[in-house]
Amino acid sequence: MEEPKKRMLSGIQPSGDLHLGNYLGAIKNWADRVNEYECYYFMADLHTITVRQEPADLRKRSLNQLAQYIACGLDPEKNTLFLQSHVPAHSQLSWVLSCYTMLGELSRMTQYKDKAAKHQDNLNAGLFTYPILMAADILLYQADYVPVGEDQKQHVEITRDIAQRFNNIYGEVFKVPEPLIAKTGARIYGLSTPGDKMSKSIPEGCVFIMDDADTIARKFKRAVTDSDTVNCVRYDKENKPGVANLMNIYSTITGKTFEEIEKEFDGKGYGVFKPAVAEVVNDHLAPIRDEANRLIKDKEYLNQIYREGAERASYVAGKTLRKVYKKVGFYQLDK
Ligand code: TYM
Repeated sequence: MEEPKKRMLSGIQPSGDLHLGNYLGAIKNWADRVNEYECYYFMADLHTITVRQEPADLRKRSLNQLAQYIACGLDPEKNTLFLQSHVPAHSQLSWVLSCYTMLGELSRMTQYKDKAAKHQDNLNAGLFTYPILMAADILLYQADYVPVGEDQKQHVEITRDIAQRFNNIYGEVFKVPEPLIAKTGARIYGLSTPGDKMSKSIPEGCVFIMDDADTIARKFKRAVTDSDTVNCVRYDKENKPGVANLMNIYSTITGKTFEEIEKEFDGKGYGVFKPAVAEVVNDHLAPIRDEANRLIKDKEYLNQIYREGAERASYVAGKTLRKVYKKVGFYQLDK
């Protein structure tokens, strides 16, 4: 008999438009895995409300993000695409796991520390317990691999710890997942602040996948390179982080090595290099943008994908949840 396929699962919060960091760090690595793995990708809308959202915008982005996933090459026939809030098992397992997660381990999460510092006016419990919900997302599907950018690695690690703790008490209930971090693109920095990861919270330095060609060109033109008077394209992460970031973007999209890029732009300077990076980014994103714009108009089609996705996801998630409820001793009614 053929071995069952290994499972892959990941999610992105629809808290803003998808950006180049999400794309190069995560989605780009999802689409080509479909023949090898059984794939589950979702929009993490439950996670977004740890920070206040405008309800109408969240609703709209949750649908747009699905269109963008599909446009990025995630075929809904082959991948299970769904919205987290459509599968109640995520919240249900999250509660159970919260009783198997220690306050100390949550307080060590760097994302919590960063977000808590940024949102002093709204230090809600959800910000703190966020990784437990993420653990539930992953463990419900018995995922073998979780393809994410580097910033999410710590959350996958705490998921492993929670799974192992639970398994040690109740037997092999959960698959212990592994993070899958791309070799290039796993950490894209903001174009205006090369010390910080690219994020929608610094929009000037953030390239959104739906940005038009002119906006992309403008953002790259203004990209911070270095104060170095030697205007040369050389990979030096320490002393030229802005240039290294642009090279990383260029390399991830074109597949060229840093040496090849240095050779290509030898003696040409940033005035040539920056527009060249903008051009490969735009050429790569333009078909995705067009397809997403086409799909966004077809709300019924997108709703149908969400319905089918929720059904398939609920089936798998339900099986794990029932097992967990049984293991911890919740009384079950006869069928
Ligand atoms: P989120 O929504 O912040 O980001 C989604 C994915 O994009 C990656 N990413 C980046 N990669 C490279 N460079 C960047 N500048 C950059 N910014 C973001 C992230 O690493 C991530 O892979 N907690 C998660 C969402 C989530 C999830 C899950 C992920 C919820 N449940 C279960 C995997 C499995 C988050 O906030 O990602």
